[in-house]
Amino acid sequence: MARRSRTTTSVPAPGRLSRLRRALGRWYRANGRHDLPWRLTRDPYAVLVSEVMLQQTQVERVRPRYEAWLGRWPTAASLAEAPAAAVIREWSGLGYNRRAVNLQRAAREALERFGRIPVNETKLLSLPGVGPYTAAAVACFAGGRRTAALDTNVARVVGRALLGEARARAPYGSELREAAEAWLPARGARAHQLAVMDLGATVCKASSPDCGVCPLARGCAWLAAGRPAPHVAVPKGEAAPFEATARFARGRIVAMLAEGSPQSADAIAARLPEEHRVACEHYLEALARDGIVALREGRWGLAEDV
Ligand code: ADE
Repeated sequence: MARRSRTTTSVPAPGRLSRLRRALGRWYRANGRHDLPWRLTRDPYAVLVSEVMLQQTQVERVRPRYEAWLGRWPTAASLAEAPAAAVIREWSGLGYNRRAVNLQRAAREALERFGRIPVNETKLLSLPGVGPYTAAAVACFAGGRRTAALDTNVARVVGRALLGEARARAPYGSELREAAEAWLPARGARAHQLAVMDLGATVCKASSPDCGVCPLARGCAWLAAGRPAPHVAVPKGEAAPFEATARFARGRIVAMLAEGSPQSADAIAARLPEEHRVACEHYLEALARDGIVALREGRWGLAEDV
């Protein structure tokens, strides 16, 4: 059998990428979270501290802890010299103490091997506790390097807007990585990547994306496809589990509305299994087209009830 070569790629065309990039850039200048303290520095050590803290803790909780940490240990050298017990104590409440231990080990090792915290992604990856996301984030946010840092927000925005996928889970595939990298501008990769992150955190949210205010809406592949629910991987030869189907989700919505009074789309979405929430409005619209449900004064109910 002849080997089929892959002649097509799903990385969007350059023209489309640059239109989406420009729209995102305008949005970011007006709406980005520019005052986050770790965005006001290019010091690789400070950026590394922030990225390790942000791995498990929300931005607003990290802010004071980051400032306290840098007040106490403003340089990699000062952290390297600190007693390990003090480092662990300062980390308390941030979870996963091993991250603090690794952060100090990374500072010590980087100073020994490179004389500083590097911005080279390969060197970063060789440090204790530094994984692919953190290495790319430090390389990009501190070093301005053109490399994709795929956290859940970035992966979701790229997956939806560029590839039309509802959700991508780690480990992210090469297609997603290629699309994210192709989208990075030749100059200004840092601002672009921060913009993607902010869009994912504030507009293109996992379960309640706000497509009405999204700067990418006109070119978003996911929106154009009717915001399909996440793809659930099904082993070869098996049918999709019924719970993964749109039919199941629509059935749940009808049962919910049959039992209770009319509700907002957000309230209905919140009661669906997580993987169906993003597509809730899409299901409601399909049910409305079939005459089963209707919208009145912002609330959805059975057609006969509203
Ligand atoms: N800015 C830079 N990195 C960030 C992160 N991981 N989360 C939020 N804001 C960031």
